[in-house]
Amino acid sequence: MTKNDLHDYVASVKDYPEEGVTFRDISPLMGNGAAYREAIDQIKDFAKDLNVDLIAGPESRGFIVGSPLAYTLGVGFVPARKVGKLPRKAVSASYTLEYGGVNELEIHEDAIKPGQRVLIVDDLLATGGTINATRKIIEELGGVVAGVAFIIELEALQGREKIMQAGEVPFLALMEY
Ligand code: PRP
Ligand code: HPA
Repeated sequence: MTKNDLHDYVASVKDYPEEGVTFRDISPLMGNGAAYREAIDQIKDFAKDLNVDLIAGPESRGFIVGSPLAYTLGVGFVPARKVGKLPRKAVSASYTLEYGGVNELEIHEDAIKPGQRVLIVDDLLATGGTINATRKIIEELGGVVAGVAFIIELEALQGREKIMQAGEVPFLALMEY
């Protein structure tokens, strides 16, 4: 399995969730053991020089990437949850969604200690709103964003530029569409 082969495990769905949008679905990649492992191994490779203390991933597909990565690196995983799900004191940030509307993510305030280096991961980068909200919370808690990594980057939406506007960080996308 090589990097190029991963494209075979992305389903492109025309006019979903609305007309004119082609949705990139990673379910086939997650559903294939070799492809899933290859994707996680490639992100692990990227992470190895970043001196990472923690992995953070936004709900819900960020958990699918972040949990196996944290396990294989032997570091902790911090979920950035959609608002109202966390039982203890949390820090939140809101962001606008690609298809309209506003959402809010939260991280428990004791999940990250000042100075800890956090790699943020997600399945897909679109406008960058989700990642920048996650980043804002991490930085508010005193964490340092060690890098950001995605399985897919939707280039036309310029999420990468939006991330870098908040400060340059190491970046990885396994596939660009
Ligand atoms: C999707 C995707 C990313 C985000 C990308 O999640 O998994 O987290 O959108 O969009 P952005 O770069 O424009 O913020 P979604 O909010 O649909 O939630 P889900 O993972 O629970 O399906
Ligand atoms: N695919 C999957 N998730 C998404 C997309 C997409 O094209 N755009 C925003 N979230």
